[in-house]
Amino acid sequence: MAKKSRPHCIGILTAGGDCQALNAAIRGVAKSAVSAYDLQVIGFLDGFRGLVEDRSIFLESGSLSNLLTVGGTILGTSRDKPHRMPVGTQTMDMTEVAVQHYQGHHLDCLVCLGGGGTQKNALRLTKHGLNIITLPKTIDNDVSGTDVSFGFDTAMTIAAEAIDRIHTTAESHNRIMVVEIMGHNAGWLALGAGLAGGADAILIPEIPYSLSSVVEAVVGRSRRGRRFSIVAIAEGAKTVEEAKALREAAEAAAETKGGKKAKTNDDEAPHAPAESAAVRLAEALQARTGMESRVTALGHIQRGGPPTPTDRLLATLLGTKATELIMSDTFGVMVGIRGDQCIPVPLEEVAGKLRTVPLDHPWLRSARLVGTSLGE
Ligand code: F6P
Repeated sequence: MAKKSRPHCIGILTAGGDCQALNAAIRGVAKSAVSAYDLQVIGFLDGFRGLVEDRSIFLESGSLSNLLTVGGTILGTSRDKPHRMPVGTQTMDMTEVAVQHYQGHHLDCLVCLGGGGTQKNALRLTKHGLNIITLPKTIDNDVSGTDVSFGFDTAMTIAAEAIDRIHTTAESHNRIMVVEIMGHNAGWLALGAGLAGGADAILIPEIPYSLSSVVEAVVGRSRRGRRFSIVAIAEGAKTVEEAKALREAAEAAAETKGGKKAKTNDDEAPHAPAESAAVRLAEALQARTGMESRVTALGHIQRGGPPTPTDRLLATLLGTKATELIMSDTFGVMVGIRGDQCIPVPLEEVAGKLRTVPLDHPWLRSARLVGTSLGE
């Protein structure tokens, strides 16, 4: 969309699963837009659905106070995508309606705060002529093009603290405690929290695990007089056998369809609760070791409550940078963080790419060096 004059009005929405520091990011964008550049800011409610249904509120100075530390999102969120939106009993392509509402509000830019799915939806909207800037949010830390996403540090802090607490009760009862940590496709959260919390085994989707190897780690500890163990397991962790079966099923399905479907971090995809990998593991460990096992699924506790100072700072940096980019007519980008710099990354380089834990990552090397089992 060709720009004619300096920006006057911008929109903002939060999409996908919520996380901490969304409000801090909204505040960063809107406060800088209003006070530094005298822009009008419209917040669309409940993600892309609010844009399609034209439900919005004005974000003025008054409504931006006391937001920095508050969890959740004042705008609400949803996993709805414009091009495949449930409407009544049907699923419809509402992209044109979204475009009309963008134009109807005379927006100069729409800032979308979201994870992997949001980046894809944003890219689609740029192809329909919208000026878009995105910010990377997710506790999973799996958005490509940035060193880290806001929400991750807080969730990791919560999960590490939970592991700390589980430590004492595990030791009192000489039990195996399996702690389920969020992350279906990427193991950043389980790995970071597991390392910080001193878990004895950490199982992540990137490294299919051998049950025997985990059993060995637990039994070895018992022999050394440590008659309890803590296993941090990501939701999406799989045994070697499960991973092989899934790979073969995916290959067979791809052959039938005539094309491969890559795994992505689609935060607008429905996350139906699957059978728990943690429960399966705890049962197997109990059967193999004879030690009592318990499961703690941390669930949405990891996404709730106030953000850490690190996340508040990150969200504020990214949010204010988004406003600066709008003022310099830079669109079609996600604001990423590299080192201590906020940089614009073209959406084409971000959308549809899953940022998993590289197998040579220093966190994995350190885990091995301190004797943590990765189930290898
Ligand atoms: O994508 C973020 C995330 O928190 C994942 O870690 C988790 O698997 C999923 O969302 C849970 O989704 P929902 O909030 O829809 O249950």
